[in-house]
Amino acid sequence: MPLIIEQGLLLSELETLASFSEVPPPAVTRIVFSEQDLRARNYLKQLCAAAGLNVREDAIGNTFARWTGGSEEAAAVATGSHIDAIPNAGRYDGTVGVLGGLEAIRALRRAGFQPKRSIELIIFTSEEPTRFGIGCLGSRLLAGSLDASIDVELSDVGGRRLRQVRNEAGFRGDLARLLIPAGHYSGFVELHIEQGPILEREKLSIGVVTAIAAPASLRITIEGEGGHAGGVLMPDRRDALCAAAELILAVESAAKATQAIDTVATTGVCNVFPSAVNSVPSRVQLEVDIRDIDGDRRQCVLEEIRQAATGICNRRGLRHELRIVNADRPGTCDPEVIETIAKACTDLKLSYKQMVSRAYHDSLFMSRVAPTGMVFIPCRAGVSHRPDEYASPDAIADGTRILAETLARLAS
Ligand code: GLV
Ligand code: MN
Ligand code: MN
Repeated sequence: MPLIIEQGLLLSELETLASFSEVPPPAVTRIVFSEQDLRARNYLKQLCAAAGLNVREDAIGNTFARWTGGSEEAAAVATGSHIDAIPNAGRYDGTVGVLGGLEAIRALRRAGFQPKRSIELIIFTSEEPTRFGIGCLGSRLLAGSLDASIDVELSDVGGRRLRQVRNEAGFRGDLARLLIPAGHYSGFVELHIEQGPILEREKLSIGVVTAIAAPASLRITIEGEGGHAGGVLMPDRRDALCAAAELILAVESAAKATQAIDTVATTGVCNVFPSAVNSVPSRVQLEVDIRDIDGDRRQCVLEEIRQAATGICNRRGLRHELRIVNADRPGTCDPEVIETIAKACTDLKLSYKQMVSRAYHDSLFMSRVAPTGMVFIPCRAGVSHRPDEYASPDAIADGTRILAETLARLAS
């Protein structure tokens, strides 16, 4: 079956998708349920319909575009990723898996492939945690890893609840009904840029993912005492930001102390109140992201951070609250799906290696409900979550070709 990937078309679609952004190029910002997100969704739904796929959306806005295969009763094979982008991101994170997934399906149709199973493209809602503080909203709900009560519990920085925001975006209905029944998908494969330097450094075309590191996210609020930057004497200070500074370094030390290359910890948010140059900071909110493919080791790092927060705040006479926003189990990919992807690489003569994913993905949650695998392609210098994120046209086409081959084998 000669598979032709229309590289030019795919690149122009990536370019159009990147134009739905709140910031000028090359940066992309596309926050879930924003006007730009809704415009991007419309564009993709049109592309899917033009490709002859049946499109439906669920109550959180996950979008499913199905090519109905020979046996409608057989569990479908799925692929997909996300289109939301964190502030000041690039254009390839998630989008390569969505548009590459669509092009893989179109290439199979053009080649006259007759699938025995339906093949479905899924565009997951809010893989990024930007708006509601927790990532993978759509895939978590599909996998039953999140309670429907988030509808009223989660709100954005403007204080607007998830339910209100999604309803206004046109997505209504009960979040409790999104769970995928066991056996609904016989396989799930996500194409994604590596977001790390290994494939490029080792001059390899494809990464076959074996395990996906899982994040734990913490929100730490430190309460001190504010006051006049000139008037409050140094011995009397209870400066929340100074305590936060110590804690940020403790986060770094806790991750480094494991000496494991797969343990990482980041303090990515530091909100200072009242944030005025002549006022002692009275309150600081930190958001910390800890990841590992070893759940126990990650738990040890989390406990160390908890102890550090208590120690620092007690010593400085400050109050604090540490809330675990999420602490997910790491995911493992399915041996048969891994084997299928690896075999496709061998047959198409593309170099590959098995590797872990240090970023999380919707696949982390899909792996709870379907045999799952991931195809990584190199990205320049491993850069991601930045405007200069880049994957070459050939790398995108190679990944799409491997995805198409894998979907064909899983749907045969
Ligand atoms: C996903 O974007 C992640 O932060 O790993
Ligand atoms: Mn991302
Ligand atoms: Mn992503």
